[in-house]
Amino acid sequence: MAVNVVILAAGQGKRMHSARPKVLQPLAGRPLLAHVIAAARALKPARICIVYGHGGEQVPDAVRADGLVFVKQQPQLGTGHALQQALPHLGQHKDTLVLYGDVPLVAVHTLTALTAGTGERLKILTAELDNPHGYGRIVRNAKHGITAIVEEKDATEKQRRIREINTGIMLLPGKRLAGWLAKLSNRNVQDEYYLTDMVALALKDRIKAESCAPHDNWEILGVNSKQQLAQLERIYQGRSAERLLEAGVTLADPARIDVRGGLRCGYDVRIDVNCVFEGEVEIGDGAEIGANCVLRNTKVGAMTRIEPFSMIDGAVIGKGCRIGPYARIRPGTALAEDVHIGNFVEVKASQIGQGSKANHLAYIGDSDVGRNVNVGAGTITCNYDGANKHRTVIEDDVFIGSDTQLVAPIRVGRGATLGAGTTLTRDAPEGQLTISRAKQVSIAGWQRPTKKK
Ligand code: UD1
Ligand code: CA
Repeated sequence: MAVNVVILAAGQGKRMHSARPKVLQPLAGRPLLAHVIAAARALKPARICIVYGHGGEQVPDAVRADGLVFVKQQPQLGTGHALQQALPHLGQHKDTLVLYGDVPLVAVHTLTALTAGTGERLKILTAELDNPHGYGRIVRNAKHGITAIVEEKDATEKQRRIREINTGIMLLPGKRLAGWLAKLSNRNVQDEYYLTDMVALALKDRIKAESCAPHDNWEILGVNSKQQLAQLERIYQGRSAERLLEAGVTLADPARIDVRGGLRCGYDVRIDVNCVFEGEVEIGDGAEIGANCVLRNTKVGAMTRIEPFSMIDGAVIGKGCRIGPYARIRPGTALAEDVHIGNFVEVKASQIGQGSKANHLAYIGDSDVGRNVNVGAGTITCNYDGANKHRTVIEDDVFIGSDTQLVAPIRVGRGATLGAGTTLTRDAPEGQLTISRAKQVSIAGWQRPTKKK
C-alpha cells in the first residue's frame, strides 16, 4: 500500500552560519531538500508533505513542484510538533514515513525495505555508530525488543554508551497516528514535543517497535555544519565517480571529478582531472574531456576532444570536433561535425556548420556560420548596438582574414573572402574579396623624436 511521506524541514540550522535555510544548502548542485524529495518520489507515495518554518517561504519557493504539499510550522516546538502540523494534510489510514530534510543521502532501497510489509507497526531506521554522540539512543530490553528512544540530553550515563542510534527516519501506522500525536507531551529537558516518544505510546497500545538498518551508514548522516556538508558532498561525489567507472568511463582520478546533475557517457569516454559537470550533460562514444573543464547542460558528440580549461554551457557539440584549450561556449550554440574552436574563442547563440574553424581569439555571437568557413584570429561579430542584438550570417566556404569586425546585421555571401583588418558594415557579395582598410603609406627620411636634454 502506498504510504504518506512527511519531510521535516523546519529547523534553523544555526551551525551553518548562513542566511540560507539549512535544507536549501546545495549538495551536488541541488538543495539538500531536493535530494530527499527525489528519494521520496521514488517510493511513489500517496502524498508528500513538507513541513517548513525557518527561512519562511524561501523553502517552498525553491522546491515547489506538482504533488508536494507544504505545511508551515511556526514556532518550531520539536519533531513531534512538526508531524502534528502535517497531520490534517495526510489522507487517513495510510502509514506515514517520516524523512528529514537535512539527511539527503538516504537510499531508495533502504526506504523500500523500511516501508515493506503490512500490518500495524512502528518501524525505525537505526544504525550502529562508533561515535553516537548527539543522536537519540535505541534502548532495548533483555529480549532485544525496543523499549524507548532516549535523546542524548535526556540520557543517563549508561544509556549514552549505547551505540545503536535513532536516525530519525521512521514509519508510523496510519490508524494510530492521530491518537499518538495527540498524546505527545513536552515534558523533557528541551521542552519539545519529541517524535521519538511514539515508541512508548506504541508499546502502551501493544504495538511493537521494529528496527531496520540502512544499507550503508553514510546514508543516515545529517548536515548540521559546513564540515558535514563538505563531508557528504565528498561521499556523494565518490559514489557518483564509482558509478561512472562501473559504466566503463575512464577517469584520470575518481577523487577529482564533480558531477552536479546527471552525466551520461557512451563507450570509451575519457575524463581528465578537475572537471565539473552541471545540469544534464551527455558525452558521446570515444569523446575526451581535458583537465579543468566545466560542462553545463551540454551534449558532446562522439570522438570530440574538449581540450583543457574550456567552459561549455548550454551547447550541442557535434561529432569529431576540437574545442579549446581555453574555449568558452555559451548557451544556444550548436556546432556541426568536425568544427574547431580554438583558444580564447567565445561562441554564443550561434550555429556553426561542418568543418568550420575559429582557431584563435575570436567572438562569434548570434551568428549562422556555414560549412568550411575559416574565421581568422581576432575576428569579432559586433552583434550589439548598445540597445539590440543583431545576427550575422556567414555562408559556406567563406574565408575571414584576421582582425575583422562584422557589424551586424550583416551577411557574407558564399565563398567570399574578407581581407584582414576589414570592418564590414555592408553585406559582402559571394565569391569576391571585400576589404576595408586605410591605404598603407611609408614616409621616407622620417626621424623618430629624441629626448630633449
Ligand atoms: C532528532 C531525533 C534524534 C535523532 C536525530 C537524528 C527527536 C526528538 N530526536 O534529534 O533521536 O537521533 O534527530 O538526526 O526527534 N524539525 C522540524 N521542526 C522542529 C524540529 C525539527 O521540522 O520543530 C526538523 C529539522 O529541520 C530536522 C529534523 O526535524 O530536519 C531533526 O531536527 P533536529 O533538531 O536536528 O533533531 P535532533 O535534535 O538532532
Ligand atoms: Ca539534527
